[in-house]
Amino acid sequence: MPTLTWIGKEKVINHHHDVPYKVLNHRYSFNSHHPEQEATNKIIRGDNLEALKALLPEYEGKIKCIYIDPPYNTGKDEWMYNDKVDHPKIRKWLGQVVGKQDEDLTRHDKWLCMIYPRLVLLHKLLSEKGVIFISLDDNEVFHIKLLLNEIFGLSNYIGNIILETATDNNPRQISTEHEYILCYAKNKNKQNAWVSKSLAAEYIQSKYLEYKEKYGQDLVSIQANLRKWIRANKSSLEQVTHYDNVDHKGVYHDADVANTKFGGYVYDIVHPSTGKICKVPEKGFRFPLETMQRLIENDDILFGENEQILIKPKKRLENVTDRLRSVIYEDGRSATKELEQMFYRDVFRNPKSESVIRRLLSFSTSPDSIILDSFAGSGTTAHAVLNLNKQDGGNRKFILIEMEDYAETITAERVKRVINGYADKPGTGGSFSYYELGEPLFTGPNNEYLNEAVGIDKIKSYVWFTETRTAYRPIADQQEAFLGIHEQTAFYFIYNPNRLTALDFDTLGLVTVRAGQYIIYADNCLLPKDFLLHHHIVFKKIPRDISRL
Ligand SMILES: C[S@@+](CC[C@H](N)C(=O)[O-])C[C@H]1O[C@@H](n2cnc3c(N)ncnc32)[C@H](O)[C@@H]1O
Repeated sequence: MPTLTWIGKEKVINHHHDVPYKVLNHRYSFNSHHPEQEATNKIIRGDNLEALKALLPEYEGKIKCIYIDPPYNTGKDEWMYNDKVDHPKIRKWLGQVVGKQDEDLTRHDKWLCMIYPRLVLLHKLLSEKGVIFISLDDNEVFHIKLLLNEIFGLSNYIGNIILETATDNNPRQISTEHEYILCYAKNKNKQNAWVSKSLAAEYIQSKYLEYKEKYGQDLVSIQANLRKWIRANKSSLEQVTHYDNVDHKGVYHDADVANTKFGGYVYDIVHPSTGKICKVPEKGFRFPLETMQRLIENDDILFGENEQILIKPKKRLENVTDRLRSVIYEDGRSATKELEQMFYRDVFRNPKSESVIRRLLSFSTSPDSIILDSFAGSGTTAHAVLNLNKQDGGNRKFILIEMEDYAETITAERVKRVINGYADKPGTGGSFSYYELGEPLFTGPNNEYLNEAVGIDKIKSYVWFTETRTAYRPIADQQEAFLGIHEQTAFYFIYNPNRLTALDFDTLGLVTVRAGQYIIYADNCLLPKDFLLHHHIVFKKIPRDISRL
């Protein structure tokens, strides 16, 4: 498989191991029933490389959908390379805004060094059924495609959506009016077909029910009003505007009964009013007699005034499904307008469209999925998650990461307004917790010391995760050293920040549960080796034997 090389690649492909594991400090909860209780939706302020690592213990393999909209590297987006990679060339890049094409010859190297370790962590966080969507434009899309082939595997490429968003009034050669949304799966074989209910069809259906309520059995008035309404709302009804006929069963579109090639089915259909044989299309019918008879019985065939008019099958509105097409048109100004409506001023440059992200999520998530955006900006992804939940009664959760000061004043503030309602939009309800990146769990030049300042609960949760790869759930009323049992192994963490602890015959009294094996952490072990072996006990020294993520 072809691969891409660039300055610094060999230093960044394993950089995620060197990133310090920092704890997340809970700052506040919004709208949670108990302000002290942490909500499952999360907004994290901090650099996403560290924040993604901090999420691993709870979320590795759990995220169903990732949407990211990283800096496009246009030369105008003023991003800086800031990762602490130990390499002389890379150190020179720190703190400098990445320049324009032709002025900064390493601009693509910098961007690739930035994105690579983040993609590695994002890949770890995705569940087996998970997918990632990445918004980019011509500047980096072709480079990242090769990186994604390396990290996700070529066979997990799902597709590339062309998002037509702008008009280019000043083209020098080609007028570029689109950007991209690349999509990869963690494991494409685990993806079901992406079919969703058509929102536009549901919209027509709700209008039909409204007219039905008003006009009762008067199908002519229902149809006339529905057609008028469809004409007036054409632009938001996408590909279903032709569903504008009404009969006693509901709304339908009169489709074609004729076969497209010569050699279709030929049989006799009797016209219900004239009793004569209906006209057969030139190339025959497109389905066999049995299907036709079933359609007639179910009143799903439309007969003309007489047998000379071709019959038509009625395609029912309720059977319309939607597919994620590779070309999406979106008025690029609508997302900015939405934010202006919420904040009464221009607060964020180039936010993404909430409805586009909602559309991606509607195909790629289920009602209980967790969705992550690690370049959150104004928080459009959380907005889309909350709206989608409201739309289909789902309980999806979001995690947003944003490093700038506005994580609180714009990102979190937008989510609060969406939850509570703004302008003429009713609130979606919901809650979230706000976090900041805290201290590293290990300190010292080689991460050799445990940082007690992070608190024992965070240390225990980390140790539990490194041992079991599952999230730590403290057990109520258990004695302190006991972490839990996982796959027949009981875990103990005998630790005291004020003195050294030992695994000896006294502390063995702490072991009160029965298990096939015991893994016991302490500062020292005073028990003989054959005793440990005989009782299936594995001693691990704090902090030496705690795995580094
Ligand atoms: C293009 S904007 C995303 C806009 C967002 N999709 C929206 O609709 O508002 C990229 C965001 O990523 C943030 N960002 C860039 N590098 C980051 C990093 N290393 N860690 C966390 N956030 C980062 C930027 O501050 C910026 O807000």
